[in-house]
Amino acid sequence: MKKKRIWTLALLILALSFSLPPRTVPAGAAVPLEETAAPRKFIALTFDDGPYRPTTLPLLGGLAERGVKATFFLIGNQLPGNEALVRRMDEEGHQIGIHTYDHVPLTGLNKKDFSAQVDRTRTALHAILGHNDFLLRPPFGAVDAGIRARAGGPIILWSVDPEDWKDQNADAVVSAILREAKSGDIILLHDIFPSSVEAALRVVDELRRQGFFFVTVDGLFEAQGIELKAGAVYHNARP
Ligand code: NI
Repeated sequence: MKKKRIWTLALLILALSFSLPPRTVPAGAAVPLEETAAPRKFIALTFDDGPYRPTTLPLLGGLAERGVKATFFLIGNQLPGNEALVRRMDEEGHQIGIHTYDHVPLTGLNKKDFSAQVDRTRTALHAILGHNDFLLRPPFGAVDAGIRARAGGPIILWSVDPEDWKDQNADAVVSAILREAKSGDIILLHDIFPSSVEAALRVVDELRRQGFFFVTVDGLFEAQGIELKAGAVYHNARP
C-alpha cells in the first residue's frame, strides 16, 4: 500500500514536469551562435547528355513535384524537336548549360571546330530561350587552355560522380551519392537513363531529409559567396 502511494507521487511529479511551460528567451536577447540554425547545406544536381524526352520529361515532373531546381548541360544536336521541353526547363527555374553540339571532346580543337560545337549550341539555345548566359561543361571533363580561352562562360565540372552510366543501377547510384555528398558539391548524372532519373529523385528526398537545399549551379555558388568567372574551371562550390 505504501509502495503504491510512492509510485503515484512519482508519476504525478513526472507528469507535472512535462506540463511546465517551456523556458522562453526574452525579446531582443542575443541568441548564442550555436543555437541559431546550423549552416545551411547546399548542393547541385547536374544532368548531362539530354534533352532526351523519354527520361528528361519524367525527371522534370519529379523535380517540379518536389520544387527542386537542377542544371542541365544539353547537347546541341538533340535540341531540334525538343524546343518546348527546353523552354519548360528554363521556365521552371532550372539552369541550362552547353555540352557541345555532337558530344565530342573539345580539347585540341581549332577555333572553327570549337565554334561548331560550342557557339553553334549557344546560338541554338539563344534562339529557343531568348537569353544567352550559358555555362559550359566539356564532354568527359576534358579541359585545356584553348577551351578556357574560348569558353565564353564558367566551365563547370563536378565533385560527385556515381558513374550512373556504368551499370545503370538506381540503388548503386543512390548509395554512391549519399556516401559522398557534402555542402557545395556538384553531382554528375545523365538524364538519359531511367535508373538515373529514379536515383536523382530518391537522392533529393533523402538529402532534403538531411537538411540539404537543392539549387542550380548559379544558386550554389551564390549561396557559397563565390563569384563565377568565364573561362575558370569549377569542380565544387567550396572556398
Ligand atoms: Ni556527356
